Amino acid sequence: MLRVLVTGGNGQLANCIKEVSVNHKDSINLVYRSSKELDITDRDAVYEAFQEEDYHYCINTAAYTNVDGAEKDIENANLVNQIGPKNLAEVCNQNNIVLIHISTDFVFDGMQSVPYSEKDSTNALGEYGRSKLKGEQAIESVCDKYFIIRTSWLYSGHGSNFLKSMLKYGRERDSLSVVYDQVGTPTNAIDLAEVIFSILRSRVDTYGIYHYSNEGVASWYDFAKAIFDINKVDVQLLPIRTDAYPLPAKRPSFSVLDKGKIKKLLKIEIPYWRDSLKKACNTLE
Ligand SMILES: NC(=O)c1ccc[n+]([C@@H]2O[C@H](COP(=O)([O-])OP(=O)(O)OC[C@H]3O[C@@H](n4cnc5c(N)ncnc54)[C@H](OP(=O)(O)O)[C@@H]3O)[C@@H](O)[C@H]2O)c1
Repeated sequence: MLRVLVTGGNGQLANCIKEVSVNHKDSINLVYRSSKELDITDRDAVYEAFQEEDYHYCINTAAYTNVDGAEKDIENANLVNQIGPKNLAEVCNQNNIVLIHISTDFVFDGMQSVPYSEKDSTNALGEYGRSKLKGEQAIESVCDKYFIIRTSWLYSGHGSNFLKSMLKYGRERDSLSVVYDQVGTPTNAIDLAEVIFSILRSRVDTYGIYHYSNEGVASWYDFAKAIFDINKVDVQLLPIRTDAYPLPAKRPSFSVLDKGKIKKLLKIEIPYWRDSLKKACNTLE
């Protein structure tokens, strides 16, 4: 039986991992620790948590995810997104545990016009992206056995995300404005959870950084339009430019990820974003 510790146990991705785990309960035992049960910034607590059980893997879904909040709350963003992963990487390395860590497309500046591969240069535009990048670097410097999975635009039936916000506002309001000049790929967090299980089950050991999102390309406007079409929400949707909706954190205007490396590693096909969105919408209440 594979034993796995999941941090950030109440978050969106952790809940998707819980959902998918029912298909693997005979071979994988997952223990979830919420932020209250295990604060990953507390080094002693992290060491203690790993003494409770002989784990094979740690999945770090814990993060400071408030992209705009991070602009003013730099210290906390760095604590959770840099020091936390460093603590986990150290304890994993000492105990021969494989660390699966989740990172973000926001480590890139969006200046490219072709999908970003794992080899492309990083240059985060905001504090959130910078703190996540420092987390990646901390893991790489102290840990031998790690998978860092950069993903983008996560949504699901769990937690707060763009899909749920759009459905709420779309049903409350007559019209909505959404930016059309930021392009990336929406990712069903259930699909990401499936990929994590694929790593666990296959026990692949080609460690390093990998990119994973759904297939295809969309703007936030396209994403919102698809959400309203699929859910038959009758709201006027207006495309606007980013500068018409200023936010504290600068975001990459292009953050499509090249998934070739992970597809080859796991021998998988990745679902097209619109198909995965339909699947997610079918399961929403
Ligand atoms: N959401 C996206 O669009 C997106 C896009 C790209 C990458 N990612 C990455 O994907 C991963 C999962 O994101 P998500 O959407 O599941 O985020 P989420 O729903 O915000 O979950 C993050 C979890 O981390 C917990 N946490 C915060 N500080 C902690 C600490 N010091 N110790 C332990 N736990 C702590 C939070 O607990 P509390 O709620 O109690 O604070 C929360 O449950 C993150 O690494 C994120 O950076 C997300």
